[in-house]
Amino acid sequence: MGVYNDRVLPRILNHSGDSKRLDTLRRRVCEGLAGDIIEIGFGAGLNVPFYPAAVASVAAVEPSDVSWQLADLRLRGTNVAIQRSGLDGQVLPFADDSFDAALSTWTLCTIPDDAAALRELRRVLKSGGTLHFLEHGLAPDERVRRWQRRLDPVQTRIAGGCHFTRPIVDLLRAAGFTLKELDVFYEEGISKIAGADSLGRAVSP
Ligand SMILES: C[S@@+](CC[C@H](N)C(=O)[O-])C[C@H]1O[C@@H](n2cnc3c(N)ncnc32)[C@H](O)[C@@H]1O
Repeated sequence: MGVYNDRVLPRILNHSGDSKRLDTLRRRVCEGLAGDIIEIGFGAGLNVPFYPAAVASVAAVEPSDVSWQLADLRLRGTNVAIQRSGLDGQVLPFADDSFDAALSTWTLCTIPDDAAALRELRRVLKSGGTLHFLEHGLAPDERVRRWQRRLDPVQTRIAGGCHFTRPIVDLLRAAGFTLKELDVFYEEGISKIAGADSLGRAVSP
């Protein structure tokens, strides 16, 4: 699994995530970002073209070297100052109250300790700072949830630790965030099992 996870999967994610189908969602989640931003699970930088002009800097947190290399073209195509500044969303190398906003897209499904990552985001966000999130997770419907639970062990093996079953909104609330905007929906073009999305903004107190 080492070569697959390290070298193949980042290319699959770069390819599947770089779809016109997702542009509207990426644009929506990035809307309103401003100032100094942290993005966890930066991947190959697929959100970069959607950063608003008001974004001053981005601290990119991404463990995969291959994904960071794949981001190169997008990094060269933007005026935003983007630095790879961390490798693990569970332990962020930043002082408290460092960022105006945070961004996470399709990443909380994969970070092993999701609660630790959210705790860290709250710590490094300024008071009143906003987490912009777009995540897939546990579906609203029990029939879909049953399939998600059945397939989760396979999914985690083939998709680098990604889970279908994370209850995103509950996790955000448990971490102390206040939901400011929330849209829960099934993504078009993929199965409900993988495409039960939550998109919104959560405020750090
Ligand atoms: C499904 S990809 C999403 C990438 C990107 N956010 C996007 O929207 O295309 C999940 C990303 O989370 C990253 N990741 C995995 N474990 C992580 C961790 N502990 N901390 C931060 N990012 C992590 C993976 O390397 C991968 O780039």
